[in-house]
Amino acid sequence: MTDDILNPLPEEGDEAEVGLRPHSLEEFVGQMPVVDELRLFITAAKQRGEPLDHLLLFGPPGLGKTTLATIVAQEMGTRFHQTSGPVLERKDDLAAILTTLEEGDVLFVDEIHRLARVVEECLYPALEDWRIDIMLGEGPHANSVRLHLKPFTLVGATTRPGMLSGPLRTRFGITERLAFYGAEEIERIVERSARILGVGIDTRGAHEIARRARGTPRVANRLLRRVRDFAQVHRDNFVTGGVACEALEAFDVDEMGLDLLDRTYLATVMQKFGGGPVGLKTLAVAIGEDPDTLEDVVEPYLIQIGFLNRTPQGRVVSASAAKHVRGK
Ligand SMILES: Nc1ncnc2c1ncn2[C@@H]1O[C@H](COP(=O)(O)OP(=O)(O)O)[C@@H](O)[C@H]1O
Ligand SMILES: [Mg+2]
Repeated sequence: MTDDILNPLPEEGDEAEVGLRPHSLEEFVGQMPVVDELRLFITAAKQRGEPLDHLLLFGPPGLGKTTLATIVAQEMGTRFHQTSGPVLERKDDLAAILTTLEEGDVLFVDEIHRLARVVEECLYPALEDWRIDIMLGEGPHANSVRLHLKPFTLVGATTRPGMLSGPLRTRFGITERLAFYGAEEIERIVERSARILGVGIDTRGAHEIARRARGTPRVANRLLRRVRDFAQVHRDNFVTGGVACEALEAFDVDEMGLDLLDRTYLATVMQKFGGGPVGLKTLAVAIGEDPDTLEDVVEPYLIQIGFLNRTPQGRVVSASAAKHVRGK
């Protein structure tokens, strides 16, 4: 499917991407304000010999939240453990992980806005007082047992900070927001990934890929891998601007980096709802897509490039978007 390459969500087969992941703040391209702050907080924590404060990372998919969490552990010189909100169904699931943590370890909880309420409540004392209370046995013989934990760092990631409960949000000492990357930053990421993948690329080639990557490293790497296949088979394993354009056209990626779903979204608002305003749920039904996908995956980039506005009355498509879609 052509629209898969532009989807910033992780998917199976992205293990290929693990090799492209930066391993230190030094290697991490862009996001300067975030990187500078984290460097300061990490240095200070290390000087005091303490774990880093709990850290919340938020922003659209594919911008480097998981990568930064692994980097925090690397920079702190501690171990990295990964889980996610929906996986932790019961208190016991959480307890099993927390009790294996060594001092200063990083526990990464992806999609932390999807933690079950009971699990979330059990997490509070763990984060503040390094303890959890669990029940052993059932009925009249049930016993509450207090487990003591080693001080650790929780790194939570979310695309939806608004869905985090107030009490959970206040337990993070550090909150960082990842923004879409600038074109030159994405170019640097493409050039770096090309070096790692062993494919030759010139500045124009990197530029053509970068401008279609929706400001998103995961998308840039996906596009690069597909262009590499094309270059390897047809063009001596070297990516010029022309090769990149030819390959991307073949994959139906337009010059704004919009895919079929983006274009369907815009066309639906224009044709069925007179350009808007239209409510998200109504729109999702009209397109036949899940509202969460529209809100997390499609809308952030359309808003970023000025194609879409979210108003209190609903979604409204801009004149520039209308022009782009009509031009197709
Ligand atoms: N700042 C960056 N510099 C270089 N590569 C990056 C950067 N951020 C992300 N990437 C690449 O993009 C991919 C997706 O990043 P990831 O951390 O999985 O995003 P998220 O967790 O926010 O969805 C990573 O595998 C990595 O290769
Ligand atoms: Mg992730």
